[in-house]
Amino acid sequence: MSDDIVIKTVATKPYLDQMPGTSGLRKKVPVFQQENYPENFIQSIFDVSGDVKGKKLVIGGDGRFYNDQVIQKAIRLAVANGFGHVMIGQNGILSTPAVSNLIRKYKALGGIVLSASHNPGGPKQDFGIKYNISNGGPAPEKFTNAAFERSKVIDQYLTVETSDIDLSQIGKHQIGATTIEIIDSVADYAEMMEDIFDFDAIRAYIQSGFTLQFDAMHAVTGPYAKEIFEKRLGAAEGSVINAVPLPDFGGQHPDPNLIYAKGLYDLLMSDNAPDFGAASDGDGDRNMIIGRGMFVAPSDSLAVLAANAHLVPAYSAGLKGIARSMPTSCAADRVAEKLKIGMYEVPTGWKFFGNLLDHQMATICGEESAGTSSDHVREKDGLWAVLLWLNILAVRRQSVADIVNEHWRHFGRNYYSRHDFEGVDTEVANKVMQRLRGELASLAGTSIDGQTIEKADDFAYHDPVDQSVSAHQGIRILFDNGSRIVVRLSGTGTTGATIRIYIERYEADEDKLALDTQEALAELIAIAEKIIQVKAITGFETPTAII
Ligand code: G1P
Ligand code: ZN
Repeated sequence: MSDDIVIKTVATKPYLDQMPGTSGLRKKVPVFQQENYPENFIQSIFDVSGDVKGKKLVIGGDGRFYNDQVIQKAIRLAVANGFGHVMIGQNGILSTPAVSNLIRKYKALGGIVLSASHNPGGPKQDFGIKYNISNGGPAPEKFTNAAFERSKVIDQYLTVETSDIDLSQIGKHQIGATTIEIIDSVADYAEMMEDIFDFDAIRAYIQSGFTLQFDAMHAVTGPYAKEIFEKRLGAAEGSVINAVPLPDFGGQHPDPNLIYAKGLYDLLMSDNAPDFGAASDGDGDRNMIIGRGMFVAPSDSLAVLAANAHLVPAYSAGLKGIARSMPTSCAADRVAEKLKIGMYEVPTGWKFFGNLLDHQMATICGEESAGTSSDHVREKDGLWAVLLWLNILAVRRQSVADIVNEHWRHFGRNYYSRHDFEGVDTEVANKVMQRLRGELASLAGTSIDGQTIEKADDFAYHDPVDQSVSAHQGIRILFDNGSRIVVRLSGTGTTGATIRIYIERYEADEDKLALDTQEALAELIAIAEKIIQVKAITGFETPTAII
């Protein structure tokens, strides 16, 4: 071991915008390129982490532009702050769920994920830093608030002068008292998936002729998907497309939805469709599931997965409970009711699931925004969701469409859509919310277009484990027939504000289970505008995205 490193104290001044949102600190690359900007944020995290001396830290990212440079900065800060062991994915690549697994498996103090999730990458695009704590989950609000407060007064950070570490070679380096280890990005994650699922059953199903296509969108899941689907499960070579992570994701948004993964959608709706299609986002925590001729909305996917999870080895003893974010449709609630297990409604953002998972109150969690996962990690997990579907299909030997239709016949269908108004002036967006908040008290009991509002509130979450309260998590307008309208502002955007309106209607009539979603919701969408007045106030004529 060489002890001849020199720890440098760099004087700095705070940047007052280092406030992490629902998924860490997310800004444009040029913001992160300001002198000392990433260093200040990372040092602020270390400063509120207690004693980091000798502890383990995981670092990785989704391969986007600036990833490699921030990793080198983070390594120097970690060494200077006295971490004992820093584990970094080869080529700087680690998916968000893989980081969560590594933290838990190797008992690290925490992990730094460099990603702006599904947002585009490149010199003028987005970058982000997330921090996960020792349970493998995103740092809770208490922690991120403390880091933010620290970043407002930070006047120095610690670093060392060393040459860059070669991230392309697996192996160990020693800098002072710190071991820097470049690890295989995929191995630990793939092993965990083999422990959860029946790979033999999936392999046999694929051998029998079942076909799939996975779109890695030139983002982090490429190497994982190649190894798991093609190598370990025997899917034909080329089943994984866009498999090489690129700094700009090939110029696309690595967002697996009907807009940005339209090619995959079109393929699954075509005559040449494989049996199954799926995609994941920039950092590998989201998933999109499409069967031949049938797109599965994330809220439905959560419900179907929960109802069938017992068919899979890791969940054969049944689920402890199900949790969903508040705006996610209530489809999963019906499954929990039938299974007689707990159902939890938490605010948007994965960190709110952590306590429920840690205390074995919930086993499966999901969000309408294409995030699903279980207690195997403390993040949403795109490839896990795909494998869960594959394992269920391999056992049931029915098509995706048949499974979903059967589910609806049994439980009824929650028609559901999200209407986004992006790029709204922040003040105008706040005005929409403020006006609506002012109306809430008078809404309950009123009828609009023949629909009666039972309750209207600003969702506040009381965490059943630590009793903490998170207020103002979105406005809920609940109708007496089970319909819901939810409104909230996005916490992940990087320019202006995004107003998200979520609309949901329950349908149990067997003859009305195959309607077009927007048509099925048309009446409620009109009612939403009457109540929220988003178009009237913002001047937008239509949503910028309908999901
Ligand atoms: C969005 C999604 C939310 C998800 C988050 C991070 O946040 O709506 O479900 O947890 O991205 O992937 P929002 O922009 O709505 O705050
Ligand atoms: Zn993501």
